[in-house]
Amino acid sequence: MRDKRRIISALIIIVYILAGCQEESHTTIGKEDYGIKNQQVLSKVVDGLHEPTGLKAGIGLTEVLRHCVSCHSAKLITQNRATKEGWKTMIHWMYETQNLPKLGESEQIIIAYLAEHYPPGSSGRRKGLTEIDWYDLPE
Ligand code: HEC
Repeated sequence: MRDKRRIISALIIIVYILAGCQEESHTTIGKEDYGIKNQQVLSKVVDGLHEPTGLKAGIGLTEVLRHCVSCHSAKLITQNRATKEGWKTMIHWMYETQNLPKLGESEQIIIAYLAEHYPPGSSGRRKGLTEIDWYDLPE
């Protein structure tokens, strides 16, 4: 009878410890902090991507989230590729034609982020399919 109780108590303790470990693994995000200081943003980063938007994690992501996803989808950003000059041109085009409020000091941070993570030549879309195994539809 006593032994039984001991075993049950031991089991309960083990379950508590395991539950505690799980809690831990939910709150730790990984060794890298991706240069992001905002914990709320960091908690949504999975495998280097900010899950809700698909934007790459890195210095400047918080600024981009603050200024660039209120009018349109982040896909407009993630599907584009440009140099610093090119990104600057797009941002200035939005100032002039789309009522984008002036970004002030954030502009440099955002341009640096965009040029680093979405430079020309890196692939923005899925590659075209090759080696397609076509088959005839029966008539
Ligand atoms: C005030 C609203 C607004 C904000 C804020 C805004 N944009 Fe835009 N942006 C637009 C509009 C409107 C378009 C045109 C959308 C369309 O053509 O469907 C656009 C288009 C774009 C395009 C596509 C340009 C092209 O040539 O295809 C990119 C890239 C882009 N925005 C990036 C950004 C970035 C980066 C930021 C943050 C600095 C940002 N946007 C913030 C309004 C905005």
